[in-house]
This record gives sequence, structure tokens and C-alpha cells, in this order.
Amino acid sequence: MTTVRALEVADWSEWRRMRRALWPHDTAARHEVEMAAWLARPDAAVVVCGRELGGLCGFAEVSVRSYADGCASSPVAFLEGWYVDPDRRGSGVGRALVGAVEAWARERGLQELASDALLDNEAGQRAHERLGFIEVDRAVRYRKPLG
Ligand SMILES: CC(C)(COP(=O)(O)OP(=O)(O)OC[C@H]1O[C@@H](n2cnc3c(N)ncnc32)[C@H](O)[C@@H]1OP(=O)(O)O)[C@@H](O)C(=O)NCCC(=O)NCCS
Repeated sequence: MTTVRALEVADWSEWRRMRRALWPHDTAARHEVEMAAWLARPDAAVVVCGRELGGLCGFAEVSVRSYADGCASSPVAFLEGWYVDPDRRGSGVGRALVGAVEAWARERGLQELASDALLDNEAGQRAHERLGFIEVDRAVRYRKPLG
């Protein structure tokens, strides 16, 4: 059975494990800092999916952004992170997580949920589309150190 609920304090290590799987280029220390900052935000939430025998199998992070490409309203909800463990993919966990994110956003009066996916993450793009997301743009992002 799929149990999607808000993140609890006891979920910390499982949330960190899944974050590291989704964003492996970030160090463990950076994840810890980001997680603490995330929980301190009044305009963000984490929903998780529990496993029957303990532990978690998925999470979604949502925040409120003042602007998102392609959206007509402002502010909007933004799906910042969306992950399901490989052994549980394709069984509705991802859909349930996004459903909980949508409910969170609607409770706040938000009218749109935005998201993004890397250009080479075609599976992630297909999953977004199956959940009703409409592609609005394709982009290459840059950074330039100013030090
Ligand atoms: C994207 C992800 C969260 C989806 O989770 P999931 O539990 O597999 O999703 P669900 O089983 O709820 O599927 C949701 C819908 O997407 C479709 N879908 C899921 N994976 C798909 C794939 N690889 N190809 C095509 N469609 C896919 C499902 O068929 C389903 O549609 P349906 O209900 O109409 O049949 C999961 O694959 C994942 O963690 N991927 C790695 C991380 C990632 O890419 N995250 C998204 C960043 S953009």
C-alpha cells in the first residue's frame, strides 16, 4: 500500500539517502545544510512515501516561487525535487507524491505547479507529461564564477 504523508523528524536519514541518490554531485554536508534550510522555510514542504516494513521509497520537495517560466499566475508552486527508489518505480508512488504536492499548493491558493527536467532525462519528462504537466520551454543553464 502506498502511504504518502508529510516528512517527519524520524525520516531525516532516509530523506538524505534519497536526496543523495537524486543529486549525487552534492556532498553529504551540503545536503545536510540544504535540508535544515528547507525545513526552516515557511513556503516549502516535503512529502514522502513510506515502505510497508519501515523506511521510505520516495519524496517530493515543493516550494513557492514568485515566477516560473511558462506560468500565467504568480506566485506558483514549484516541484523542486521528485524521486522514487528504483525498486518502486512504475507503481504509482511518483503520481501519489505529486498528488500530495498539488493538494499542498491548492491549500495555499496557488493555481499552477511548475517543474523542470534535465534535457537528457527523458524518463522524467515522460512521467511529468503523464501527470498532466505541459512542456513550455527547453533551456541550457550557465554559470560564471565572479571570484
Ligand atoms: C520520475 C519518477 C519520480 C516517477 O516515479 P514513479 O513512481 O515511477 O511514477 P509513477 O509510477 O507514479 O508513474 C507516473 C506516470 O508516469 C509514467 N511514467 C513513469 N515512468 C515513466 C517512464 N520511464 N517512461 C514513461 N512513462 C513513465 C507512468 O506510466 C505513470 O503514468 P500512468 O499512470 O498514466 O500510467 C521516478 O522515475 C524517478 O525517481 N526517477 C529518477 C529521478 C527523476 O528523474 N526525477 C524527476 C526529475 S525531473
